[in-house]
Amino acid sequence: MLEKEFEPLGPTLLVHVELPRAESREDLEELYRLAQSAGAQIVEAIVCKREFVDPKTFIGKGKVLEIQSAVNATEAAVVIFNSSLSPAQERNLEREFKVRVMDRIALILDIFARRARTYEGKLQVELALLRYEQARLVRGWTHLERQKGGFGLRGGPGETQIELDRRALKERIAAIKEDLEIVSKRRTQNRQKRAKNAVPLVSFVGYTNAGKSTLFNLLTDSQVYAADQLFATLDPTLRTLNIKNVGKVVFADTVGFIRHLPHELVAAFKSTLEESALATLQLHIIDASDPRVNENIEAVDAVLKQIGAYDVPRLLVFNKADLVEDVSDAIVYDSDNRPIRVNVSAKTKFGIDELLSCISYYLTSNVCYFTVKLSAADGKLRSLLYASCAVEQESYDEEGNAILELKLNKEEARRIDKQTLGKLTQACLDEKVPYLEDEEDNDSNRDSSSKDTDFNFDIFDYSKDL
Ligand code: GTP
Repeated sequence: MLEKEFEPLGPTLLVHVELPRAESREDLEELYRLAQSAGAQIVEAIVCKREFVDPKTFIGKGKVLEIQSAVNATEAAVVIFNSSLSPAQERNLEREFKVRVMDRIALILDIFARRARTYEGKLQVELALLRYEQARLVRGWTHLERQKGGFGLRGGPGETQIELDRRALKERIAAIKEDLEIVSKRRTQNRQKRAKNAVPLVSFVGYTNAGKSTLFNLLTDSQVYAADQLFATLDPTLRTLNIKNVGKVVFADTVGFIRHLPHELVAAFKSTLEESALATLQLHIIDASDPRVNENIEAVDAVLKQIGAYDVPRLLVFNKADLVEDVSDAIVYDSDNRPIRVNVSAKTKFGIDELLSCISYYLTSNVCYFTVKLSAADGKLRSLLYASCAVEQESYDEEGNAILELKLNKEEARRIDKQTLGKLTQACLDEKVPYLEDEEDNDSNRDSSSKDTDFNFDIFDYSKDL
């Protein structure tokens, strides 16, 4: 397993290639921050434009020569490309520059490898690294051909893996997956325990550096590591809070997302990311001061879709309001008077009470109670209901069917119904399926002055009980 403290990358030259296709465009400033997060000392950044990618060297002969002389002049030990390189391009460039070449994916994996602290985190990162290596082996490039190691693993515990042949790599991947399965089972058991006690889960998602951990610490009075570096937090942290009118709520801080998050990492971190997939409510934390705010939101949405967590009710939390001009109201409502966005500052505490009010609104106003009858064939529906903390009580009728009394967020109920192709509706014993009721009915049931009563700023008890 990954056990070593990694050395900083050292003198590093950055290469940012602007391509015409918008989806392959990256941000140079972000590359700076990524490289710095891996301990790089940036000696120069070269920017160039290309109409098309050179299959051999990505940048073409002329640029190769230019970068080669820059490497010599600056004594750079690493060249990092702000793009995705093919194994052949990486190998050819290493031959030309005679120093280590990394692409953006390798850099992100390197940072993850440096940050992993827990047993599960280390396993997940190792799995991602091995899969990355495996993809390169499949394409016919063995580690043994390399002049220099590819990533932060060089000289580290990965060294042994670098000598592994394809089969050994496969065996190691299988062993890690088995170990991860055990950890994942434990996670599922904890989830079921929460489900039994019907504890809602609120998870923090967001682009890296948006301020998730800072906000998490503020709300839960915790000490999760927060820093101005990318992917400061890798391992999920759960905390329980008592919120007045709601009761016990579990908050989960998870790994930050980034544009074009390597798919090896998404796959390896699936169980961690599932924490957000199965949440009662997601808080999407956004750095409101980032000039690429909309693209960052899209990048997070893309990952949420990839892991099947997009349909979970979500509140947009625009953080760092202290860095943005013209922020007046903390809560922004949609046309149905529902809070859809909160402007906050974890630094000045602006909007924090309002954020808690919105969380309370989502966890209480939208809840429905009903009973379902499940047969032995409804295993998937049953496990989804348990995973969503929906089951308040379970008993059996004379025919051996399970009778479940449910307490469930309406949007989540609709999501589960959709996921099971209408099975939840079919299983419902109530004449009128509560989560399918007209939205208008719901609104008329609410106090017309709901804005004031629902968002009473002083209704929270911050007492931490974990
Ligand atoms: P990852 O671990 O990379 O996913 O980052 P994160 O989203 O957890 O961000 P983190 O809490 O580590 O904060 C990133 C940086 O933003 C830190 O330097 C924080 O001090 C800073 N920050 C967080 N919230 C605010 C805020 O409201 N205002 C300002 N000005 N800075 C903030």
